[in-house]
Amino acid sequence: MRPAIRPAVAKDLDALVALDRVCFGASAWSASAWRNEFARLETDRVVLVADEGVAVGYVVLLVPSAVEDPVELLRVAVEPAQRRTGIGGQLMTAALQRCAGRVVLLEVAAGNKSAEALYRGFGFGEISRRRGYYAGGEDAVVMRWQEDHE
Ligand SMILES: CC(C)(COP(=O)(O)OP(=O)(O)OC[C@H]1O[C@@H](n2cnc3c(N)ncnc32)[C@H](O)[C@@H]1OP(=O)(O)O)[C@@H](O)C(=O)NCCC(=O)NCCS
Repeated sequence: MRPAIRPAVAKDLDALVALDRVCFGASAWSASAWRNEFARLETDRVVLVADEGVAVGYVVLLVPSAVEDPVELLRVAVEPAQRRTGIGGQLMTAALQRCAGRVVLLEVAAGNKSAEALYRGFGFGEISRRRGYYAGGEDAVVMRWQEDHE
């Protein structure tokens, strides 16, 4: 069954806090950080949920109101047992459909080869590196996407 991709609603909060812990462990956002994301859904955040009756994935975008400012893809994750079945791709497709005419930027840990492969597959290209950006000293790869370049 392919999950439906839909905008998050308030009742998704607890499920996304829990799924984020499963997906990111010590790097998960706190419940209060997630509450802040949800509070910003009316302004500059887009949260999409992959819904199979339960949430199995999500993507979070920061979408500034000024169209000349880049969108930032803050997070995309899929429940571990469901990976490599296309859900991450479904989430990226739905996210980028909302970014017509915009530049999208993201940072990914240099060692996160699955995420980097996902992003490259959608046309993101590396534009710079931030040395020692993450706790533990891992570099961040900064990647950029623009619809015209798809
Ligand atoms: C990155 C992530 C979201 C990918 O989700 P997914 O549902 O497995 O992705 P898909 O099945 O749609 O894969 C799409 C493509 O991405 C690439 N990809 C995904 N996982 C990969 C892996 N482990 N190794 C190599 N390529 C990979 C492939 O090109 C894949 O296409 P293919 O299966 O036809 O080869 C998932 O691995 C995840 O949740 N990781 C942990 C959270 C994370 O690190 N998020 C990114 C930083 S915010």
